[in-house]
Amino acid sequence: MKLSNKYFEKEKNDYKYLIDSLRRDVPEYPGWLQDFAPEEEYQMNFKSEKDIFSMADVVDIKDFWNVDLPKFNLAEALVLRESTEISKLNSIWSMEEILQLMKMALSTGKRYKNYKGQKIPLRNYPSGGAQYPVNIQILMNEDVGFFDKSDNYYVFPDIGKIVKAKRNNLKLRFTDIFASSHYNSSLAESIKKVPMLIVLSINLKDSFEKYHYYAKELAYIELGHVAQNIQLSATALGRHSLPLGGILDDIGREIFNQINDNEFIVYGIACG
Ligand SMILES: Cc1cc2nc3c(=O)[nH]c(=O)nc-3n(C[C@H](O)[C@H](O)[C@H](O)COP(=O)(O)O)c2cc1C
Repeated sequence: MKLSNKYFEKEKNDYKYLIDSLRRDVPEYPGWLQDFAPEEEYQMNFKSEKDIFSMADVVDIKDFWNVDLPKFNLAEALVLRESTEISKLNSIWSMEEILQLMKMALSTGKRYKNYKGQKIPLRNYPSGGAQYPVNIQILMNEDVGFFDKSDNYYVFPDIGKIVKAKRNNLKLRFTDIFASSHYNSSLAESIKKVPMLIVLSINLKDSFEKYHYYAKELAYIELGHVAQNIQLSATALGRHSLPLGGILDDIGREIFNQINDNEFIVYGIACG
């Protein structure tokens, strides 16, 4: 059920509100100097094995840098890439394909840069200041090898690992995180058959130190790069995908107990 307009004022439905906020946020010259220009002194943080040890409820860990990648043709993947409607996303990926997707789209452990004597891992997609504010989680609707539908999966691209962690809230279903399943009954039926969802969230705690308010825009731009890599990699693997804006943060944070107060869910890629 959708809320009716007559019960409240929708300031954000006004085009002027949108234009005013764009005018405030666009990087113009005086604003750049005041708000956007990056700080010179900041901390570079990245994930290591010890971040996994500090996580509660870890059940198992899988390396995705070990998996062999198939030969593929980028020009072909670019030309064939498309979004597949939700009702057709019902073929089940193998565990190996999921690991290959992570390696192709996210990282291989081959590239690093040096920041003040620190070896910083780099990924297969660009990131403003190599701050990597985008986090990747996987939610399964099918059991395939390491992956099963009752646990949560947190991807660690800096070390090439996927962590399986116990889900606390088992009442929520796979379909609940999709906005449309709450008000569109025919889509809700199709979503029940989608085998896997990749959930993208942003955590601006570290990038804020360098970019302040601009960290938000940088993270959204980067999210698009991540999603593009995921969609192209899925195409290269002969599989289908659908990027989805309608992935719910409030439900997602109930499902993924590791999502903290600094982190917000903004996007998803349904795969099938
Ligand atoms: C930011 C973004 C959000 C999207 N959200 C949805 C969505 O909620 N539901 C949906 O069916 N498609 C969604 N799409 C997919 C678009 O409908 C699709 O990309 C568009 O129709 C063009 O088709 P193509 O990707 O096959 O070229 C989204 C795409 C983007 C880039």
